[in-house]
Amino acid sequence: MKKIIITGGAGFIGSHVVRRFVTTYPDYQIINLDNLTYAGNLANLRDVEDRPNYRFVKGDITDAQFIDGLFTAEQPDAVIHLAAESHVDRSISNPIDFVLTNVVGTVVLLNAARKHWQGAYPAHRFYHVSTDEVYGALGDTGMFTEETKYDPHSPYSASKASSDHFVRAYHDTYGIDTVISNCSNNYGSHHFPEKLIPLAINNIKGNKPVPVYGKGENVRDWLWVEDHARAIDVIFHKAASGETYNIGGHNEWKNIDLIRLLCNIMDRKLGRAAGESAKLITFVKDRAGHDLRYAIDATKLKRDLGWEPSLQFEEGLEKTVDWYLANEEWLQDVTSGHYQQYYEEQYTSR
Ligand code: NAD
Ligand code: TYD
Repeated sequence: MKKIIITGGAGFIGSHVVRRFVTTYPDYQIINLDNLTYAGNLANLRDVEDRPNYRFVKGDITDAQFIDGLFTAEQPDAVIHLAAESHVDRSISNPIDFVLTNVVGTVVLLNAARKHWQGAYPAHRFYHVSTDEVYGALGDTGMFTEETKYDPHSPYSASKASSDHFVRAYHDTYGIDTVISNCSNNYGSHHFPEKLIPLAINNIKGNKPVPVYGKGENVRDWLWVEDHARAIDVIFHKAASGETYNIGGHNEWKNIDLIRLLCNIMDRKLGRAAGESAKLITFVKDRAGHDLRYAIDATKLKRDLGWEPSLQFEEGLEKTVDWYLANEEWLQDVTSGHYQQYYEEQYTSR
């Protein structure tokens, strides 16, 4: 029996992690702690919300009193921490929110773990979910390993790097059992349509311009979100205390090539003439400080714990498009209101 608080469980990756843990481990109690920001959506978890081993708690990880009370009341065995402000463009226009949630929120959780926990895994574990963006940008060659020096460039990646340092500091200073994973770009269902792939799907569907930053030459290493959730499961259960693992898809794509592939898939799915959707591609002003290339070397995770990505990108992208086309209502809900206003501000200032 384990009681696990998963923070950010109503978001994109968090909802996949919650679903995986709730359905794979019926004897665990899973508490989804989420403040339901614009990115949090309980509709992401409709299929598991009635399970007896699942509970949702609305709360802010930056609220120290609330978090302390939650630890007192629930006595959790472990935390899997995903709650964060996660979008680079938003971090450029509003960095403070990223410091508060990603840095202060992580330290608030670590303080609660420090106060309430004694004993290392399997009694207690603090799993911090992070990003490859902490390593900065690569040139045309090379890959990020767990030994790569941190070199963040955006306010988002700087805040995640800072939170990673705090997690390691709490392990080294107070002996808390921690593990960290740094993952590449995820894609799949329930992805908020401010990020490249769901934004492009949504715009192609609605016959709207598909904004490609700069020349579209930037490279990202895309991983199927369910493979990330599976990696988190394996690392949570098997990693030694204090370890770090990189997670990636061995799947590098230039943005413009990815968007062209997506346009071809959408043409087919929507019964459009070949080349029709690609006419929507619009090159816009580049992102400030735009990292050129990310690529993950996930050898350590394969060697130590046997994890490998399961899905080819083309297959994963088709599945993702199918999900968005079948879930019109979800898309409508998340693209109304606040998001509409963000979108207009983000793209009219270019
Ligand atoms: P997301 O933006 O979709 O979800 C974040 C969730 O955190 C939302 O449900 C939101 O309501 C919640 N949240 C935000 N602030 C909170 C607060 N103060 N208190 C409680 N809850 C709060 O993010 P995501 O893409 O699912 O990313 C999840 C984690 O994985 C993040 O830590 C991110 O840095 C990391 N990560 C993401 C990617 C990616 O490609 N999306 C890749 C690697 C790592
Ligand atoms: P994004 O999905 O925001 O993830 P990240 O910045 O964390 O990698 O962006 C992925 C890539 O796509 C990145 O190089 C920026 C680019 N991009 C566009 O070209 N157009 C867009 O509208 C968005 C949101 C991103």
